Amino acid sequence: MRRVFLVGPRGSGKSTVAALLAARLGGWAWADADALLEARAGMTVREIFAAEGEAGFRRREAELLGELCAYDRHVIATGGGVVLREDNRERLRRSGDVVWLSGDVDTLWSRIAGDATTAERRPALGVGGREEVAALLAVREPLYRACATHPVDTTGRPAEDVAEEVYRRLAPLAPGGQ
Ligand code: S3P
Repeated sequence: MRRVFLVGPRGSGKSTVAALLAARLGGWAWADADALLEARAGMTVREIFAAEGEAGFRRREAELLGELCAYDRHVIATGGGVVLREDNRERLRRSGDVVWLSGDVDTLWSRIAGDATTAERRPALGVGGREEVAALLAVREPLYRACATHPVDTTGRPAEDVAEEVYRRLAPLAPGGQ
């Protein structure tokens, strides 16, 4: 049973890289934790935050992570805040390879600002804009670092390039590998 988790902030390209990496690994599937959570709740993440607060969302997120940790041959794109809980970080470490997609503030912000669904799906997590990205990174980078097995910098790089680097670093997982 093998699985790869992608962790990292909003705008690091987790979902896009997950799809590319699964295809590259051949015979692997991929899953997006937020999309699964939304489908089950019948609400967008933004609506869950509005109805249940961030605490309600984090409870749902931790419960779903428990299930995702049993998926086989999957690349799993997690939500940017999954590393906030220590039990989640431990679970991730125990259950698979954990790839941290990092990026500088300008790269992350330009990807977020260029995503048409941002305002509709993503709840505000602070003051908004570039300042919010910088503030969240200051708090969360040590948490991503603490649970990552493979840090990969995405600054200024297209998703295809990032997926290829991750693939090379995980190559023994590919068919024919060890
Ligand atoms: C969050 C990131 C989002 C989503 C939720 C909270 C965060 O996921 O889980 O809005 O705390 O950074 P993405 O990283 O996929 O945007």
